[in-house]
Amino acid sequence: MTRGKRVLLGVSGSIAAYKAVEIARELSRNGILVDVVMTEAATRFICPLTFEALLSRPVTTQLFDDASSGPIPHITLADTADVVVVAPASADTIARLAHGFADDLLCCTVLASNRPLVIAPAMHENMYLNPATQSNVAALRERGAVLVGPESGDLASGGSGIGRMADIHEIVGHTMKALGREGDLAGRRIVVTAGGTQEPLDPVRSITNRSSGKMGYALAEACRDRGADVVLVSASNSLRSPAGVEVMPVMTAQQMYEATQSAVSNASALIMAAAVADFRPATTSDEKIKKGQVGIDLHLERTVDILSSVHGEFIRVGFAAESSNLEQNAIQKMTDKKLDLIVANDITSRDSGFASDNNRVAIIDSKGGVDRLPLMTKRQVADCIVDRIVQLLP
Ligand code: CTP
Repeated sequence: MTRGKRVLLGVSGSIAAYKAVEIARELSRNGILVDVVMTEAATRFICPLTFEALLSRPVTTQLFDDASSGPIPHITLADTADVVVVAPASADTIARLAHGFADDLLCCTVLASNRPLVIAPAMHENMYLNPATQSNVAALRERGAVLVGPESGDLASGGSGIGRMADIHEIVGHTMKALGREGDLAGRRIVVTAGGTQEPLDPVRSITNRSSGKMGYALAEACRDRGADVVLVSASNSLRSPAGVEVMPVMTAQQMYEATQSAVSNASALIMAAAVADFRPATTSDEKIKKGQVGIDLHLERTVDILSSVHGEFIRVGFAAESSNLEQNAIQKMTDKKLDLIVANDITSRDSGFASDNNRVAIIDSKGGVDRLPLMTKRQVADCIVDRIVQLLP
């Protein structure tokens, strides 16, 4: 959905300017055309050639006398950008943007743009916490800018505190969300579950499964990038939370059920990508179970079937992880759980499935249509699943 869109990346004078290179690369990997504008101060930290070489596109630094960008560069740049990102945004640049200055290329372009503005501040803690900067940040936020970060951590000055530029994935994630805001899921609430639930046996042990949560996380990002308000009910604690997505961390099947039931009110779709434990220990010991001399017998009881139990009117999408009779078992699950779509994947396949970044699935609908997809990245699979959900939406 965001492929072919354009982002104007404004880089201002901060030691974090070198990280803007990674932002530009990551956006460009996502199929986005990136135009870089640098302030004079930014060029002291990193040179335009770095961006030019990596993006194969000219970088603009001057309001006047820049032959490459035409006679009125700020208007051309503002008109062609779908989203403007200022990262890093120094205290000076934030002040000038807040007050509508128009004396350099970056400020002029932002002033001339009516597109979403994403700002990632980066400066020393005292500068950031100064009431002047705080009121400038508040003014920009009030006008609709998305402020990402800053974070706490080590500062270039040697100390530590708040002021570090936000993580690159956070900035890119918020940019993708801004790019997708008019997408075909705009205004829709989508709930995605991910990861393998854990059923505790005692304070140190649990029964779980090999799901990594990657498929659910890819689905959450795919929905976000098409404008949805996404709630990710996650039983995975090894993956980075996607930016611009509301994450509800859970551990057990019961917790996932309760979180999902509360998240689905007003939802357009529920995508159950989580691998939910079907059984849990009938009792959980408060103390660590000692090994003793003989083995132990575990008594297990059924957990709630979330897909069959959550109530509400929304599109229901399930996954069927199978090791045999893939499509037949998947269709049976779709019927039993009254689903609109089921995504069948063969967990015995060596090149896809658990922990892999790739997946090979068949998407089956309740009318019997079967779409067998080739091996793809989980993000590509997610985009295909979301395409099908969009077709089913009223
Ligand atoms: N699911 C669920 N609640 C459960 C178990 C599974 O909501 N307690 C959901 C999964 O998230 C998935 C779908 O149901 O979307 C099918 O899950 P799967 O584990 O393949 O099937 P089960 O129903 O558990 O049946 P079986 O384990 O016997 O194959």
